[in-house]
Amino acid sequence: MHHADAYQKNGYVLLKDMIAKDVSAAFLSMTQRSMGDTAEELSKFADEPSIIEKPAYELYGFHFPPALSFLWGLTPFVEQATGKALTPTYAYFRAYQKGAVCKVHSDRFACEHSITMFLGASDENPWPFTVGKRRLTDEEVENRVAMPDYGDDEFATIDMAPGDAVLYQGIRYRHARLQPNPNRWSAHLFMHWVGRDGPYKDYAFDQKKIPFEADFPF
Ligand SMILES: [Fe+2]
Repeated sequence: MHHADAYQKNGYVLLKDMIAKDVSAAFLSMTQRSMGDTAEELSKFADEPSIIEKPAYELYGFHFPPALSFLWGLTPFVEQATGKALTPTYAYFRAYQKGAVCKVHSDRFACEHSITMFLGASDENPWPFTVGKRRLTDEEVENRVAMPDYGDDEFATIDMAPGDAVLYQGIRYRHARLQPNPNRWSAHLFMHWVGRDGPYKDYAFDQKKIPFEADFPF
C-alpha cells in the first residue's frame, strides 16, 4: 500500500529509514554538543512534561534552528507521504531517560500531521511506539486527556531503529510509549505540520512571528 493510502486508512505509517543512519547520528551528535556534555550543563534543558513520569531533556525548535531546518526541509517529502499540501508548525527534540514512559495521549492543534523520528539511544534497545486504532471523536479531540493505557481500544506497536520515523495524525489518534525505556537514554525529534488550507492552518509556524523581514544592505 502506498504511504499516503496507509496513512489515511490507519492514521499512521512507518517511514522505515526515512533518514540515513549516519545523518541521524550526525544530527544527534551536534544537537547534544550544542546542549552540553555533562548532566550539570544539560540540566537547564530538563523538564517534566505531564505525560512523562521522569524528567527529560527538551529543546524547542524555535530555540535550535537546525531542528527547524530539518522540519522545513522535510515538508515536500511529508506532503508526498500524506498526500496533502502542508505548512510546518514546530519541531521538538527530547531525550528520555531509563524507565521513562510516555502516557497515552493526543496532541494539540499544531500537530495535525506529526512525525516522531528515532535519532539514537545509548544501548539501541528497541522502545516501541504505539498508536491507537480508533479515530478520536471531535469531543475527544477538544478535550485531551493523558491515560496510563488504551483502555478497551486496540493499538498498533511499532519498533523503530535509528533513522526510522512514524508519521501519524497526532490530533486524531492517541499514541504512547507504554513500556519503560530500556535504554540509559534515547533521543527523538518530533516534527509537526498542518494542512496548508485545512482547519488548523492558523497554527502555521506555531503562530510565531518571524521577527523581521530579511534585508541585505550594501
Ligand atoms: Fe504526542
